[in-house]
Amino acid sequence: MLYLNGQFLRPEDAKISALDRGCLFGDGVYEVIPVYSRQPFRLAEHVRRLDASLASIALPNPHSAAEWMELVQAVIARQDYDDQSVYLHVTRGSAGERDFPFPQDVAPTVLINPAPLVTPSHEQKACGVRAISHADFRWLRCDIKSLNLLPTVLLREAAKRAGCAECLMFRDGWLSEGAASNIFVVKDGVIAVPPKDHLILPGITYDLVLELAKQHGLPLQVRRISEAETRAADELWMTSSTKEILAIVELDGQPVGLGQVGPLAKRMDAHYQDFKQTVMRAGAAC
Ligand code: PDD
Repeated sequence: MLYLNGQFLRPEDAKISALDRGCLFGDGVYEVIPVYSRQPFRLAEHVRRLDASLASIALPNPHSAAEWMELVQAVIARQDYDDQSVYLHVTRGSAGERDFPFPQDVAPTVLINPAPLVTPSHEQKACGVRAISHADFRWLRCDIKSLNLLPTVLLREAAKRAGCAECLMFRDGWLSEGAASNIFVVKDGVIAVPPKDHLILPGITYDLVLELAKQHGLPLQVRRISEAETRAADELWMTSSTKEILAIVELDGQPVGLGQVGPLAKRMDAHYQDFKQTVMRAGAAC
């Protein structure tokens, strides 16, 4: 069952206007919330990021934080599987015509659509994944979780065709992020990650990795990382709500470090998995 504009519906019964501004312009924003044992992870943070995205595109938030939390919980409760990936989006609705400026008095479209959560396979965890790279040809507000995903759709497709799991993006010689993940770099035992500015999405998993590093005394720097430094890294990791922490062992056909999952990736992933079992699954304050 999904949620669409106040109703819980079977996907085949859910209908939106062909003139929805989400379809015409990508005029909307979204979230992906991982759910473990029916406990949404950091729901309040996802709702806060959604609110920030909506404010950035001047789309009034149709719900309070409490209403969003209730709605997402109601959707989770209606599924017959425990680990879920809850996709939600809000668009500027349909004015019945295609005109660029904002329409007046049009209700936004709210869709909440869950799916079974698919995390990396045992083999991907053990062996790592491969990545390609490309110039970051997106706009300059990558902090907004916008529905306009064509650049990264093209890059993920290119990665898939090359037998890779992700595409790293560089802008003016600096690492920004992956097409759908944040990127961490390890050199000489020190973890580094680009700062959360307008050039990357402020990942919820990014925050968790920073917290886990601090808690377990692993050195971590938040700073700009050059393309050369990225290519010379001992380890590269991609992080996201669905990929968790996944080691990248090959970039553009060249081995990253020794071309194996590195020691810090293993340690950080062990901390993450432990946190998942003890905190996330228990729905404890996290
Ligand atoms: N993507 N950067 C980009 C460009 C992303 O699209 C994502 C997530 C992240 C990681 O954010 P988080 O840790 O909050 O998942 C970073 C989601 C999963 C998606 O579009 O499917």
